[in-house]
Formats: sequence, structure tokens, C-alpha cells
Amino acid sequence: MKRLKTPRIGETYEILLSTYDSDHSPNAAPMGIRFLSYERIRIRLFKGSRTLQNILARRCAVANLTNDAILFYGLTFKGPDLNSNLFTKARLVNAPMLKSADGHIEMELVKTTQHKDVVLAELRIKRSHLRHVVPPFYSRAAHALVESTIHATRIHEFLVHKQKRKAVKLIHIINHYKEIIGRVSPDSDHERAIKDLQTRINRWKRSQSIC
Ligand SMILES: Cc1cc2nc3c(=O)[nH]c(=O)nc-3n(C[C@H](O)[C@H](O)[C@H](O)COP(=O)(O)O)c2cc1C
Repeated sequence: MKRLKTPRIGETYEILLSTYDSDHSPNAAPMGIRFLSYERIRIRLFKGSRTLQNILARRCAVANLTNDAILFYGLTFKGPDLNSNLFTKARLVNAPMLKSADGHIEMELVKTTQHKDVVLAELRIKRSHLRHVVPPFYSRAAHALVESTIHATRIHEFLVHKQKRKAVKLIHIINHYKEIIGRVSPDSDHERAIKDLQTRINRWKRSQSIC
């Protein structure tokens, strides 16, 4: 197995985790992975996700490495069916992988630990493959969109559990990120995505009768 050089042990990275659903259709969702060593990865999976169900059922997954913030956004708030043309089958594990990713880490589940709201999953790396990529131009817009997307998943939970103050705090942060995106990346997919995100949040607020 090729040893990965880039990740630091103990650091958390955001990736897109792909798995097969029970009917064998591909699924992918953003998740944080932490390297416990160069062979082991830990993921905190919140209960209720399709990804958690799939990992427990098939005991494997692929971490897809990408900087594509639009993909992070789209795979957080997706419909039930993803376009299966986006995926191909992994080489060594029974999971799909995203064709467009710059790198893939194929993993098998080693152990799980149950907690109140999360399951800690420990996975062993079976194969890793990094594509040679053109050095990226750093843009604040992509990072602002991914941060906003993470906050939005929390806002939804806070609103459902009537924790209005916590939701409002994060909504203000997203407003700030939207200003940044508007400034550094006007009329872009990033700007369209964050506007869509705000519309989504407003819909959640209305459904919980919050102004
Ligand atoms: C950048 C980012 C990181 C995330 N990290 C995690 C994570 O580590 N664990 C988790 O359970 N959910 C995480 N989420 C939320 C899931 O991606 C989200 O709930 C998703 O809709 C789950 O999709 P699924 O039901 O298809 O698994 C993250 C979201 C984003 C945007």
C-alpha cells in the first residue's frame, strides 16, 4: 500500500465519504476524518445518516479528497437519488468512489464505539491513490461556503430542538460569510450556493414559526 505523506496524524480533514445504499445505489456525504496513524482513520458519524447505516451494513467506505466546495454543498443537501454516473466502483472495497475526486482512500471498518448521538468508527486504509493536481488558487469563497454548509447542518438541528439563540448566532456567521463570498467571488457558483443555503434556512425558520 502506498503511504500517504500529506496528512498529519491527529488532524481532522473534511472529505466526501462514499458508500453503497442497501439497494446498491451510490451515496456520498461530507464527513470529517481524523488520522490515528498512517493506516487508521476515525470518523464521528452522527446517528440518523445514510452513511452510518451503510458503513455498518457493508463495513467499508471510500474517502474522496477534493477542494470542490460546490460538491460539499450539493452532497450535504441532496435528494434521495444521486447521479450514479458521478461514481465508479472502488478497486478493493465494496463501495463507490467519486470520479471527479483528486484522491481516494479505500477503507474497511475495524471497530465501532456507540455514544449517545454518535458512533465512532475506526477504519483501516486498504488502498490510497492521489492524483497529481495543478496547484490550486486559494480562494476565501470555497472555504466560506464549506464553513457555512457545516453551520447550516447545525442550524437545522437547533431549530428542530427549539434552540433559537444558538441557531441565530450561526445564522449571523453565515451572513458574514455571504458578504465575503459576494466580495471575493461575485456572480459565481459559490455565491449562488450560499444564496440557496439562506433560502433553505429561511424555509426551516418558517416551518418552525421563527422570524
Ligand atoms: C464539511 C462538513 C463536514 C461534516 N462532517 C460530518 C461528520 O464528521 N460526521 C457526520 O455525521 N456528519 C457530518 N456532516 C454532516 C453530513 O454530511 C450531513 O448530515 C449529510 O446530509 C449526511 O448525508 P447522508 O444521510 O447521505 O449520510 C458534515 C457536513 C459538512 C458540510
